[in-house]
Amino acid sequence: MTQIVSFVLNGAPVQVPADPHQRLIDLLRGPLHQTGTKEGCGQGECGACTVIIDGRPVNACLYPAPEADGTTITTIEGLGGDNTELSTIQRAFVECGGIQCGYCTPGMILSTKALLDRRPDPTEAEIRQGLAGNLCRCTGYVQIIESVKWAAERLRDKS
Ligand code: FES
Ligand code: FES
Repeated sequence: MTQIVSFVLNGAPVQVPADPHQRLIDLLRGPLHQTGTKEGCGQGECGACTVIIDGRPVNACLYPAPEADGTTITTIEGLGGDNTELSTIQRAFVECGGIQCGYCTPGMILSTKALLDRRPDPTEAEIRQGLAGNLCRCTGYVQIIESVKWAAERLRDKS
């Protein structure tokens, strides 16, 4: 039976009907218009659909929409503040060449945010581990790791 799911999405409360077997990604990309959340494999293997739920990176393609009730969710649309400026992490990926086609990028960036919120000064091993669930078929990982280091440094400077 359809139920109303209530949660905080990018800082604003939302209420949206969800079917019991609906996936969170379909809710986000459909009625909630968060199309920055990408679907790659649809099976929890590529990380393109990563969003942050209550501080943890989660694959929205595996997450049942009804379980979002009562949570706080951040998608890539929630990172730039007023939507006119790139966040520091987004800028890092641009500056360091961590983007080519961009399909994996929202997921990479949200995994990076979850990591840096938890570990502001991660080692390279921790960065690799933090992004282990995110696959990129274009860029190669060197530039992506550099992007995370660049972002970590700038964010530490700001705090
Ligand atoms: S689309 Fe969700 S992990 Fe690949
Ligand atoms: S930039 Fe194309 S998949 Fe990562």
